[in-house]
Amino acid sequence: APSDPDLVARARAAKEALGDRVFVLGHHYQRDEVIEFADTTGDSFKLAKEAAARPDAPYIVFCGVHFMAESADILTSDEQTVVLPDLAAGCSMADMAALHQVQECWDELVEAGVADSTIPVTYMNSSAAIKSFTGRHGGTICTSSNAQTALTWAFDQTGGVDGTGKVLFLPDQHLGRNTWARDLGRDLDDCVVWNPHLPMGGLTPEQIRDARMILWRGHCSVHGRFTVDAVETARREIPGVKVIVHPECRHEVVELADEVGSTERIIKVVSQAPEGTKWVVGTELNLVQRLGQMFPEQQISFLEKNVCYCSTMNRIDLPHLVWALESLVEGRVVNPISVDPDVAHWAKVALDQMLALPG
Ligand code: 13P
Ligand code: SF4
Repeated sequence: APSDPDLVARARAAKEALGDRVFVLGHHYQRDEVIEFADTTGDSFKLAKEAAARPDAPYIVFCGVHFMAESADILTSDEQTVVLPDLAAGCSMADMAALHQVQECWDELVEAGVADSTIPVTYMNSSAAIKSFTGRHGGTICTSSNAQTALTWAFDQTGGVDGTGKVLFLPDQHLGRNTWARDLGRDLDDCVVWNPHLPMGGLTPEQIRDARMILWRGHCSVHGRFTVDAVETARREIPGVKVIVHPECRHEVVELADEVGSTERIIKVVSQAPEGTKWVVGTELNLVQRLGQMFPEQQISFLEKNVCYCSTMNRIDLPHLVWALESLVEGRVVNPISVDPDVAHWAKVALDQMLALPG
């Protein structure tokens, strides 16, 4: 639906009144009405880098979800304030790993005698507390655009990918499995899944000892719904179609795709394709619809008819953005995101490790 012209005018006026005092970051899964007011857009990695580069503005308005705003708060200076226009914009995947559960898992790894040779690699889509745990245990954060490099780095800490060390991959089992099997070309049998709701993760001591990848049992509620059947149907119905998906999709789906990548990479790959290319895209719907608008000379469709928007990304809408911006104009900060300094310290160690990875 077209945006309310009154709200568009108010957002414009508020941004103009704030000038350089505000910097608006927008994730690719945001609504068009919000993206229109972003000073920069990107995938998780690009937005973290932009925040770490400390845009010269006292206010950072983050149009994305809570873990992204937390990371921006950790990476910006103490004088800068990060605002999340709707505090209910969480992430169901990030909620699947609570600190006490991860701590219990680690205690079991200590008990099994393998903690010393295990490095945590934590997906950006996690709470600051889990990032902090990662920093305290010598690990790194990763995103979907640097997961392969992060995993290689982590194994290098314990004798290399061919050695006997392990990675505890949090909280997205699919990104962990896809990176290990598809990007590093390793054996799926080396992966086990840690179920935080079962004693000892539902694993035997032997399974823990033999595994190279301990995958936390988390997933994205949007990407987890793309199916093998949808890929096969698309291939049958659209001759010559190319399938491009996000690595949060299940392994069977990723295996069948022509291209896999972060949101930024999906945009790049499609932008470089010749006129008339037919795509089905397996990622969040706001981005797929925007790709269709950006590249009308290609044929772009959504992989699965009954998968919907990411409901929490969609919480950030124009009314919330206008409210956040107009409040700043009036000298009031609404919905500031402020991570506890002790948590932030170790989370920053893990985030800085990611930013220092090669490439
Ligand atoms: P990227 O933009 O890094 O690909 O991440 C996708 C995502 O799920 C963010 O929530
Ligand atoms: Fe979380 Fe998935 Fe939504 Fe990204 S798309 S914010 S991983 S629920």
